[in-house]
Amino acid sequence: MRVIAVDGPAASGKSSTAQAVARRLGWGHLDSGALYRAITLATLDNIGDGAGGRGTGEEWSPQRILALAEDLPVRLVLVQDVFRPEVAGVGVDEAIRSERVTRRVSEVAAIPEVRRWVNARQREAARDHPVGVVVDGRDIGTVVFPDAPLKIFLTAGPEERARRRLAQRGERTSPDELRREADALAARDRADSSRPVAPLKPAADALLLDTTALSLDEQVARVVALARERFPG
Ligand code: DC
Repeated sequence: MRVIAVDGPAASGKSSTAQAVARRLGWGHLDSGALYRAITLATLDNIGDGAGGRGTGEEWSPQRILALAEDLPVRLVLVQDVFRPEVAGVGVDEAIRSERVTRRVSEVAAIPEVRRWVNARQREAARDHPVGVVVDGRDIGTVVFPDAPLKIFLTAGPEERARRRLAQRGERTSPDELRREADALAARDRADSSRPVAPLKPAADALLLDTTALSLDEQVARVVALARERFPG
């Protein structure tokens, strides 16, 4: 099985690392969070905010959300070795990063039926890729690909992750904003780690990589070196 699992908390550099590693190896890159985000976007746009009579649209139900994902459809499309999320044939790379989606995605990702659907799409993508895939998320090494030959679990302190997240958005950072972002990330980590299904945790055989003091190039180089050992030729 040619799969590298890259797991870790929000803004630990998973996606940037996974994408750069995939490029260096000539493999595909799949960001599983993008699929949860695309389903959340589709749900908000087509069902509403889930508050029933108190908000817009109807209440959320797993059946409704899954039917939507199938019918629209929500899917991943391989474009130059990157699996890109699409909703009803439209690329949603940017729309899925909005605050509106970020606020609600943990709720959608906590629904077991949604997780099963997303996992099936990931396994299909890996099966169909001619070379191999680097997949990043929260449960890739524990649930989606428990047999992946290489599993990396990235960590970084909440302050450093907040700094990276704000820098990524190109915003100038005041100490107050940094604190707020670090608190928001810690809250999302708690939600993702304490949920009953597929909580965020390292697989028993994952290699832990603390990136607090590493540059992106350094973390990519370490994972690529491990990949060359694990997948010779
Ligand atoms: O990595 P991200 O911030 O784009 O992930 C969005 C959300 O999806 C996050 O709250 C956790 C969830 N997620 C998950 O539960 N399992 C995954 N494999 C990937 C993401």
